[in-house]
Amino acid sequence: MELTITRTSHPAQKPADPRTVGFGTIFTDHMFEMDYTPGQGWHDARIAPLENLSIHPGAAVFHYGAEVFEGLKAYRTDAGTVQLFRPWDNVQRMRDSAERIQLPDFDPDFLLEAMTKLVALDQDWVPSAPGTSLYIRPVEFCTDIDLGLHSIGKAKLMILLSPVGAYLAGGLKPVSILIEDHDVRAVRGGTGYAKCGGNYAAANRAAAKAEAKGYDQVLWLDGVHQQYIEEVGGMNVMFKIDGKIVTPALTGSVLPGITRRSCIQLLRDKGYEVEERLFSVEELVAALSSGALEEAWGCGTAAVISPIGKFCYQDTCYTIGEENGPCAQWLYDTLTGIQWGRVKDPYGWVYPIPAEKP
Ligand code: PLP
Ligand code: COI
Repeated sequence: MELTITRTSHPAQKPADPRTVGFGTIFTDHMFEMDYTPGQGWHDARIAPLENLSIHPGAAVFHYGAEVFEGLKAYRTDAGTVQLFRPWDNVQRMRDSAERIQLPDFDPDFLLEAMTKLVALDQDWVPSAPGTSLYIRPVEFCTDIDLGLHSIGKAKLMILLSPVGAYLAGGLKPVSILIEDHDVRAVRGGTGYAKCGGNYAAANRAAAKAEAKGYDQVLWLDGVHQQYIEEVGGMNVMFKIDGKIVTPALTGSVLPGITRRSCIQLLRDKGYEVEERLFSVEELVAALSSGALEEAWGCGTAAVISPIGKFCYQDTCYTIGEENGPCAQWLYDTLTGIQWGRVKDPYGWVYPIPAEKP
């Protein structure tokens, strides 16, 4: 498919200090867009100046939430080059998410090519200050104008770029977590493994409750027994117990995080035993009470590695530590070292963006 490129004639002002921009409220000059029509397939692939969409208010996405998305980052290396981290995995996960929602599939190589060209075009927006990056947000949704519940026909796929600082206010420092024992985020057979907007909508009430009580994040339990630990709002979760790493198994209701996968590889190669298994909240409480729990952290693209300092479950709070644990700190340094090109990448995870603008 042909990809047309129209450059903006009014480049926007870039943030003076990207460390202070927070996460996801500033966007670059251009966006990628393509449309899907049954019979015609994907068409009108274009990179053009970022602008508001004009969409009929009857479009199914507004009513029935047929939407999937991804999140990855472009990093500025010390040498000034720009690179992505495992973008193939995000593209494949977006296809898996789209399949779950029955949004149209797309050519993964074409999407990666479009992403590469968009980042190359807006590469001056990739910040270089410590801890900053350019967040890449692909999103696909149904554009059928139809209030009936029908199979999906038309769709739109876009990619937006946003220069970001730290996702969690305060950067790398221990966060407090409320273990949610009422609402559930996902159930067996549901959409938990897919990155679709509905999962995040289902999380809002518990997240608001946690925020009102002063916690940074919610830890979700499984939707069937409300007993097994699944993940944190926008992160997978890992525990270091008696020297071993335990992380919830991918049972179908947990997002298969690319950071999680990368951490497991790094930890195993460092010599840690990593168990991917069911891990109950009782086991966590027992490990917290006995002192066997050495560290806990969340891991995800936006949040990177986020040490957990405190858990609260059913009105009892357990403190793990006020400082970043050594294992979480080592993971943060190694992972971000590879992402920012300061640590050698023996895995073939990094993906360079061409220096020339398309
Ligand atoms: N779990 C949820 C619910 C998320 O939103 C994310 C973020 O993308 C993750 C886990 C971590 O996934 P990844 O490491 O691929 O960013
Ligand atoms: C990401 O880490 O890329 C996500 O999509 C999480 C989101 C809550 C910001």
